[in-house]
Amino acid sequence: MCFAPDVCDIVPVAKMASRFVNYLSPQQEAELADIARRLVAPGKGILAADESISTCGKRLQEINVENSEDNRRRYRELLFSCEDAMAEHVSGVILFDETARQYDSFGTPFVKCLERKGIIPGIKVDKGVVPLAGTHGESTTTGLDGLKERCDEYKSMGIHFAKWRCVLKISKFTPSYLAMLENANVLARYASICQQSGLVPIVEPEVLPDGDHDLETARRITEEVLAFQYKALADHHVFLEGTLLKPNMVTAGQSYQGRYNSPEDNAMATVQALYRTVPAAVAGVVFLSGGQGEESATINLNAINKVPLRRPWPLTFSFGRALQASVLQAWQGKDENRKHAHDELLKRVKANGLAAQGKYQGGLEGMAAGKSLFVKDHAY
Ligand code: 13P
Repeated sequence: MCFAPDVCDIVPVAKMASRFVNYLSPQQEAELADIARRLVAPGKGILAADESISTCGKRLQEINVENSEDNRRRYRELLFSCEDAMAEHVSGVILFDETARQYDSFGTPFVKCLERKGIIPGIKVDKGVVPLAGTHGESTTTGLDGLKERCDEYKSMGIHFAKWRCVLKISKFTPSYLAMLENANVLARYASICQQSGLVPIVEPEVLPDGDHDLETARRITEEVLAFQYKALADHHVFLEGTLLKPNMVTAGQSYQGRYNSPEDNAMATVQALYRTVPAAVAGVVFLSGGQGEESATINLNAINKVPLRRPWPLTFSFGRALQASVLQAWQGKDENRKHAHDELLKRVKANGLAAQGKYQGGLEGMAAGKSLFVKDHAY
C-alpha cells in the first residue's frame, strides 16, 4: 500500500523498497579505498604544497624572493625535483590549482613529475574561508559551486585526492554550534562530491591553536568538532574507507601560560580525542602541523604513534610549514643552493616517516628546527 500517492505515481514502488541509495559502485569504492590506503602506507605521509598565491608569497617574502608566477613555479620545481628517495616517505603531494597546471624546466607537467616518482598528486579544491554571519568572528569555507566539474577535470589530469580546509576557533564563546554544524556539513558535501569524481577527500576541520586555553580544553573541543564531523559524513553517506581525516594535533593554545605539557601529554590528548570520535573504517589520519615548529611537530607525531591506546588507523603527516621551513631557508631562491635545500627536505621527510611509525629518535633536525612557524589566524 502506498502512503505517499504523489511520489508513488512518479517513482515505481520497487525503487523505493529502501531508503538507502548507493552513490558509488563497488568498483568506485574499491578504487577510492586503494588510493586512500596508498596515501597512508607505513612510514609515508603527505607534503602539503598547496599554498594559495598570497600564502606562497608570504613564504617567499621571508627569503626575499619576489612573488611572481615563475618564482612560485621555481619553488615548486625545487620541491618536486628532490631525489627519488623522497618517495620512500612521501606518498602524495597536495597542489594548488596554479601549480597543477605548471611544468618543470624540461617541459614536463608537475603532475607527471610526481607520478614518475611514484608520488600521488592531490589538489586543494576549497576557495578559502569566509565570515559566518551571526557568530563571534567565525568562518565557513567556500567552493562548492562548480566543484563536481572541477573534480572531474582534476581526475582527468591524473590527480587522485583532494583537500578542503575548514577552521574552528577556540575562545570563551567559540566554536559555536552553528560553526561546528555548518563546517561539518560543508566538508561532508565536498567529500561526497569528490568521491563521485574518483578523488579521495581529505577532510580537514582544523581547530586553530590561537588562544590561551589549556590542553584539556583543546581536547574537549577537538572531540566535539570531530563528533559533528562524523555525524555529517554519515548523514551524507560518505564512504569512510575512501576518506582521510586531517586534524590538528591536540596542544594547549599558543599563548597558554600554565604548566608544561610534554609530547606524551599532547599525544595522549590527541589520540583520546580521535578514538572517541573517528570510526575505525576511516582509512587514515594525516595531521597538519598547525604552526608547531618543525622538530616539535615530528616529536609529537612520534609520541602519538606510541600512545598505549587503541589506534585503528595509520597516524601520519600532511605537513605544510613543518616540511618546508628548512627547505626555504636553505634555498634562498638561488639555484646553487638546490642540493642543500634537497638535503633539508630529505631529512625532514625521513624524520616524519620514522615518526609515523613511532621510530624517530632525533638527530634529523633541519635548519629551521627551533623556528616558530605560528601565524595568527592562519589562512592557507
Ligand atoms: P600546516 O602543516 O602548515 O599547518 O598546513 C597543512 C595544511 O595543509 C593546512 O591546510
